[in-house]
Parts: sequence; structure tokens; C-alpha cells
Amino acid sequence: MPTLLSPITPAVTRPEGVRVRRIPRVVGADAPVPLRDGGRIPYANLDYAASAPCLEAVHEAVARALPYYSSVHRGAGYASQVTTAAYEEARETVRAFLGAWRRSAVVFTRNTTDSMNLLAHAVPAGTSVVVFETEHHASLLPWRRAVRLPAPATPAEAVSAADRALRSCPVGPRLLVVTAASNVTGELWPVAELARAAHRNGARIAVDAAQLVPHRPLDMTALGLDYAAFSGHKLYAPFGAGVLAGRADWLRAADPYLKGGGASASVGATTRWAPAAEQRHEAGSPNVLGAIALAAACTALSSRWDEIAAHEQALTGRLRAGLSALPRVRELSLWGGRAPRVGIASFTVDGWNARDVALTLSEEHGIGVRDGRFCAHPFVRHLAGGGTAVRASLGLGTTEEHVDRLLTALAGLTGR
Ligand code: ALA
Repeated sequence: MPTLLSPITPAVTRPEGVRVRRIPRVVGADAPVPLRDGGRIPYANLDYAASAPCLEAVHEAVARALPYYSSVHRGAGYASQVTTAAYEEARETVRAFLGAWRRSAVVFTRNTTDSMNLLAHAVPAGTSVVVFETEHHASLLPWRRAVRLPAPATPAEAVSAADRALRSCPVGPRLLVVTAASNVTGELWPVAELARAAHRNGARIAVDAAQLVPHRPLDMTALGLDYAAFSGHKLYAPFGAGVLAGRADWLRAADPYLKGGGASASVGATTRWAPAAEQRHEAGSPNVLGAIALAAACTALSSRWDEIAAHEQALTGRLRAGLSALPRVRELSLWGGRAPRVGIASFTVDGWNARDVALTLSEEHGIGVRDGRFCAHPFVRHLAGGGTAVRASLGLGTTEEHVDRLLTALAGLTGR
């Protein structure tokens, strides 16, 4: 069966024979945007944490798939066979990307929110769920009943608070839900230690990996994670596809999340649902291009983690050092400036409303940032004294010029 998934972007060989491994490139990195004064400027996209632009490798993979784009699991025709094979190959690529156990379920969803809602739908009745109030709404809100723990003062306190809360849950299934990297501060949560705390209390752990996997590898097996969820649109794959990966038993036992064709094994007077977790929870024609795009992004990123980390570390350091040099700018942080984090920095600007800062950055400087509470209302209220903030987030298309443009614009706003 021909394969449609992307080959890895080849390393470039310089004439002198030095091999330069580049970070994957994004589409439209230099797209011009209008300014309030009528001018135009290449966009400085500093809003990767909301949605990342498409990788060139993703664009190419989708272009290769389109001529054979056809039904999935539903046709005997050649194009259907190719498309079905590509879709299932995408699933295996995602499994490898996440380091998920061979027998784990890998379910394609729409996004992280959808994945967490699917898991919330599938947990056995009476499951005790423990979350931190620092979670993104995708992980905070789907649960019927959840114990909400306050923002912990340190990573160690996160582990001990989770440990205590899980220990005092009633007898029955237990689930700890936690983010791997905060969409507000970028700070990394101690997921391996939290997984151990969950397991010693007979609980499972589900990790919202949406903000981690565009920046760093995640190995579910090594970390001991029972579930992980992420979104394609933050992983440089701009189609509505996401993933829930993890232990299959609860998913296999639950009624389909969506009921319809594909989820059913046989339908007569009664319906028998497909036994496999993937079929059971992927009713309707699936988003095959989304899955192919997402898998192409996984392949492109996994071959370049070292280069991606170096790029991000340099730019994040530049951004955070620049922000800290601006006296009226305060970066939000739960665990202090030295806590490890991905390329996300949220901040407040004294005397400025966050929305006005974001609009000024856009209209006068062609810079895209997000403002508000970033779908993490309790957490941003906690960090910003009840107010809102501006968030700059970096990715593969970010350059030093983008970061410097932001810092210069903020210095102008704050009169420095
Ligand atoms: N969850 C996305 C963000 O943090 C939308 O901006």
C-alpha cells in the first residue's frame, strides 16, 4: 500500500560538507499585515500557544494526500484503501510520538477539549477526579464532580497536595488530571512524580499535553502516564484534529461518545457497539486530513528535538530577560522565574489594560499576542490579582527580530 505520510525534511548539506540540521519551517512566516498608519509589516506571530502556523512538512503531506482523499474504513476502491491506510498509519505515528504503550487506545478527536470530554464521558460512574485550579478549562471543566486543589506554591507541594487529595478519595476509581506545561506561564509540571503519587493511591493520571508537545517530547510509558491529550492546531497542523491516548479499558466499556456509523458493530432491534476504543469513539467519517496533518507534524518535530530546544531556549531567554528589564512589566509565574518552562510568557503592564496593550501591539507593530485569561480563568485571576494579562508565546517561526520588536514596543508603551 502506498504511503502518504511525510518524509522527514532532509538535513541541508553545506558546500563545505558541514551538515546543518534546521528546525522545521512554518508556512507564511513572513506574511505581511496592515498597520494603523496604512503601512504593512511582516507579521510577528507571538501567539503560538493559541494556534501554531502550519509546518511546510504538514502542507506537503496534505498536498500528497489530497489526490487520494476518500472514505476511511468504508470503501473497497483504491483511493479508500490508500486513505484508510494513511489514517491508520497516522494513528501509529501518534502512538510512537507519545511513547504510548502498544496496546493503548489512540483516539482521534477534534482537540484537547474534545479529548478531555471524551475521557470524562468514559470514566466509570463514581470516579473521584482531582484537578488543580491552575488547569486550562479543557482539563478543569469536563468532570461531573471534581475536587479542585488550590494553586500549589512549589512543584513538590503539587505532588504532596495531589497525594493527600487522592488518598482521601472514597473507595472506587480515581483520576488525577494535570497539565504538563501551563498555557499561562509555560511552567512544566512534575508529571512523573504526580504519576507516581496517583499510582500509589490507586488512581490514574491524565495529562493535558497540549502546550508541551509542540516544544518537547513526551514519553507516556517512561513517565507512567495513563492518558495524554493534545491538539493538532497547537502542533503546527492546522486542521481540527486532536488525540486522546491511553488505557483502553474505560474507553472500551463506555457507550460511544458520538453514536452513529463506524461506532457500531451491528445494528438491528438492538445495537452492538464496536469493541475497539478507537472505532467506538470515532463515529461518523473521521477527519482524515486532520489526522494526516497531525501525524506529519509529529514526524517533523520528532526528528528535530535538539534543534527545536536550542531555538526555543535562546528566544525564550531573550524574551524573558527583556521583559524583566522593563520596570512596569511583570511576568506571571507560579513557581518563580527560574522554574523550567516552555516558550510562553504572560505579563501585566502597569497602567495598561491587557486588551489595549494587545491591540496596540497589533495595530502599531504587527505583533500578534493573546490577552485576557487564556481559558484558565481561576489561574490568571490568582496570578494577576483578579485582572487579565498579555501572553507572548514562541514557536518555530519566531525570530529574534519578533522578540526584539515586542520588547521595543513595550518599552515605548511604558515610556522607557
Ligand atoms: N488554549 C489556547 C490558549 O491557551 C487556546 O490560548
